[in-house]
Amino acid sequence: MSIHQTPERDTFIQEAKDPTLYMPKKVTVKSLKQFKNRQQPFAMLTAYDYSTAKLLDDAGIETLLVGDSLAMTVLGHPNTLSVTVDEMLHHVKAVRRGTQRAFVIADMPFMSYHISKEESLRNAGRFIQEGGADAVKLEGATTETLELIERLSEIGIPVVGHLGLTPQALLNLGGYSMQAKTAHTAYKLIQEAQTLENAGCVALVLEMVPNEVAKIITERLDIPTVGIGAGPACDAQVLVIDDILGRYGGVNPSFVRRYAPVGELTQKAATQFRQDVIEHHFPHPEAESTPMEEGELFALQQMLDLHHGRLT
Ligand code: KIV
Repeated sequence: MSIHQTPERDTFIQEAKDPTLYMPKKVTVKSLKQFKNRQQPFAMLTAYDYSTAKLLDDAGIETLLVGDSLAMTVLGHPNTLSVTVDEMLHHVKAVRRGTQRAFVIADMPFMSYHISKEESLRNAGRFIQEGGADAVKLEGATTETLELIERLSEIGIPVVGHLGLTPQALLNLGGYSMQAKTAHTAYKLIQEAQTLENAGCVALVLEMVPNEVAKIITERLDIPTVGIGAGPACDAQVLVIDDILGRYGGVNPSFVRRYAPVGELTQKAATQFRQDVIEHHFPHPEAESTPMEEGELFALQQMLDLHHGRLT
């Protein structure tokens, strides 16, 4: 048993077993294919730290994405452009430590796979070797990106593609808006999706594209599509953890469903804690702190009296 493995975790995996559901013990590239073949949807959530990764892994989430969205949700930047490879790696390592079963995907940040093939390969390798990720994700389908995906796949680094709204192209796009809305742009997107599969991608994120376009791509590709604001036809669905917990208010996409008001609860808890401190209600002198043993306290008192309160 590894240090991160607990009996409760094993129990969960056993209990969650439903004979009709495909429940791999460890989610791998092969499992992603199996999900698609069985037409069994799977879930992806972003995770950026150890404890969240552990909770999501225990909940049975099949794939965890250490997304560059952490630039906004964790680091407070206005967009995803400023996060670096080293910063991303810091989070990938933490998520890896919290994950036993889920497939961990490391998002390659802006400019980490654009300068040269060598540098891109080295950066991708770091996410696998140092970060312990199971795959890397990169955005777009330019000729250079396709070549890189081919090489990474040859080396043995699984790649997840990302099309539609690609947040790293924000300055060109001018905002976070629906993509591929016209027949012409939708056709181009379908072509790009096919080239990404041909280059070796093991899955494809489709962000903010019309339902019908996502459906066509999902039906044409052998690899699973993972939708975010791309409708119900995708093979899998991904959301940003801070969005579903109401912990981040920077952007409020219409496709997000809030599953628990954790942001609100965190504020309530913090307000109550502050109140308790101010009103001397925290900590409780016995239940939440440790009184000294009577004999030791008496001896200490005598020592202090002996020296008239001075410490020698
Ligand atoms: O960085 C991220 O969180 C993502 C998802 C929105 C797919 O790329």
